[in-house]
Amino acid sequence: MWKDFFYKNEKNENEKAFNTINAAKLPTHIAIIMDGNGRWASKKGLPRKMGHKKGVSTLKSIVHTASDINIKYLTVYAFSTENWKRPLTEVNFLMKLFSYYLDAEIDEMYRKNVHIDFIGGIKDLSLGLQEQIEKARKKTADNDGLHLNIAVNYGGRDEIVMAVKKLAQMASDKKINALDIDAKMFDDYLYTAHQPAVDLLIRTSGDMRISNFLLWQCAYAEFWFTKKNWPEFMPEDFIQAIMDYQKRDRKFGGLNV
Ligand code: FPP
Repeated sequence: MWKDFFYKNEKNENEKAFNTINAAKLPTHIAIIMDGNGRWASKKGLPRKMGHKKGVSTLKSIVHTASDINIKYLTVYAFSTENWKRPLTEVNFLMKLFSYYLDAEIDEMYRKNVHIDFIGGIKDLSLGLQEQIEKARKKTADNDGLHLNIAVNYGGRDEIVMAVKKLAQMASDKKINALDIDAKMFDDYLYTAHQPAVDLLIRTSGDMRISNFLLWQCAYAEFWFTKKNWPEFMPEDFIQAIMDYQKRDRKFGGLNV
């Protein structure tokens, strides 16, 4: 039988404290486009980097919340393949933040049973950051709580092309028959291989687009948008998104009769 349970934020970040969500109807995989750091900073007359810095605090609290309420997969868009077009100072600052985040949070995430993974073109990142990523992956590899994917140098089209190339190579090497390729096999060659599809996609800051994020994985995702910028997104907003998701009628192209 489905039963409700009450969620209480351990760190009191969420002063409303209790929210009712249906534990049996949780989205298995939530993806977030953490948008609006720059706009948040501009509105306050601050440099953009202050928005990204505040964005890290938001990420910390949302990861904790997701873990506390037993979400299985959370994928966050930290840096897209297109974000390299930003000024070098901003790109460098973001890379430093990723490194800081890993350093500062790894032990706590390990204790919280979070499995950290990075998806995207990791080989294009600095060697130092690649080492940190590898260390975080190894340290948390056996954790079976929240699986956190941080998308860095990620692009959905690139990911699909990568999978096509791998399968084409295998077909050309006669390791597989090209005619046997189906959606399930294709799925196994994406960065998110063996992970469930996205159930709920959240985007902050008012824009309503997918921006090359998890194009394949979001085929049947429910979208949830908020005008709040990422730095002001709170655990209670995250809970609200889940509660709204639980009211949606998911038909996957069929009929719910
Ligand atoms: C979008 O805001 C945000 C980004 C491109 C970076 C996301 C990064 C963080 C939230 C920092 C923390 C991440 C990790 C993994 C530690 P924007 O700069 O596009 O904002 P704007 O659209 O208002 O200019």
